[in-house]
Amino acid sequence: MTYAHITGWGMAVPERVLTNQDLEKMVDTSDEWIISRTGIKERRIASDNETTASLAIQAALKALKVSNITPAEVELIIVATSSPEYIFPATASIVQDQLGAVRAGAFDILAACSGFIYALNMATQAIRSGSAQNALVIGSETLSRIVDWTDRNTCVLFGDGAGAFILQAGEQRAGLLSATMRSDGSGGDLLWLPGGGSRFPTSADTVNQGLHFVKMNGREVFRFATRVMVKSTQEVVRKAQLSMDDIDVVIPHQANKRIIESAIRSLNIPMDRCVLNIDRFGNTSTASIPIATCEAIAEGRLNPGDHTVFVGFGAGLTWGAAVVRWSGPFPGLYVMRPPVYHFYARIRSILKRILRKIDAIIWGRYHPDN
Ligand code: ACO
Repeated sequence: MTYAHITGWGMAVPERVLTNQDLEKMVDTSDEWIISRTGIKERRIASDNETTASLAIQAALKALKVSNITPAEVELIIVATSSPEYIFPATASIVQDQLGAVRAGAFDILAACSGFIYALNMATQAIRSGSAQNALVIGSETLSRIVDWTDRNTCVLFGDGAGAFILQAGEQRAGLLSATMRSDGSGGDLLWLPGGGSRFPTSADTVNQGLHFVKMNGREVFRFATRVMVKSTQEVVRKAQLSMDDIDVVIPHQANKRIIESAIRSLNIPMDRCVLNIDRFGNTSTASIPIATCEAIAEGRLNPGDHTVFVGFGAGLTWGAAVVRWSGPFPGLYVMRPPVYHFYARIRSILKRILRKIDAIIWGRYHPDN
């Protein structure tokens, strides 16, 4: 049987830090309120030249380096994001081009904060079925671009960042062992970004009404989250034929420290087995689980042979969980140099655009607006 081992990982966060004290100067809030209600002390905010794709590419390059494979070996790229570069093309296609992943199919998943678990499961299934040998799964966000910085109910919660995993086919029992993906669309209006889609296409009115910003009913999302985190964790542990005692590390979506503590308590798991970094990054949506994973590995908390649970929830409503048996990189034959591949991929991309233009000029198809 083929398994999808996680053989590479990487994270990228903007340098700019926005503290609770900074937020006190922007909206009617306090450091004490934010810490006691959410556990967040600071979050990272993208600079003008950072985007969802650029953070995704930085995280992906680090993951490729760890797994020691070249971009040309990647056959599938899935980017989970709630703040895509554009509605289309997919952020995954931009990543594919800028990495030079010339053999990869690429698409985005829109499942809000559960998106990374959905993407991990989809990529695992592609590898298990034999349709891909190597896949790149990314969660990347610039939520700061879709948050209303005058709305204290939401702006204190979110941050920017990206995390990436490389998945590779392997014969040993490792990687994702079980997963669940669920949705309850009746709660769609509890957390949403109404404007800019088919229902409320962009107009002066939608802009004036603030429909292009995240809207949230925090209390209802809180109640939903604590319930589904427990249920879905229990479900995937059972499906993997393990018990809670077999779980070495829980890596939950970092939305609110109180939600996480309540869920971990209900699961009877000691808190020291749970990875928490919300204090430094806030809620980075799809990026929070891979970022927390990278930190857990760097701190020596997640090692080959360990069983970990990823569990998350988000807008949709959606939720999901997965049990992963950790393995680590396969022995590599060569030394992968991500910046070199990235450099050649950018040149290649520019040359392809120029050639496409020359071809259009020669055959009379050229129009300066296209
Ligand atoms: N500073 C000070 N006061 C605030 C702030 C703030 N930043 N935000 C809200 N308040 C006020 C409210 O106005 C309210 O005042 P009122 O009672 O006079 O109306 C009061 O604080 C209490 O509000 P509650 O909603 O009861 O506060 P609660 O303890 O529920 O905490 C919070 C609010 C942090 C939003 C919490 O409900 C929560 O975390 N919910 C889950 C949100 C979440 O996880 N969202 C992301 C999902 S993942 C995704 O898809 C992106």
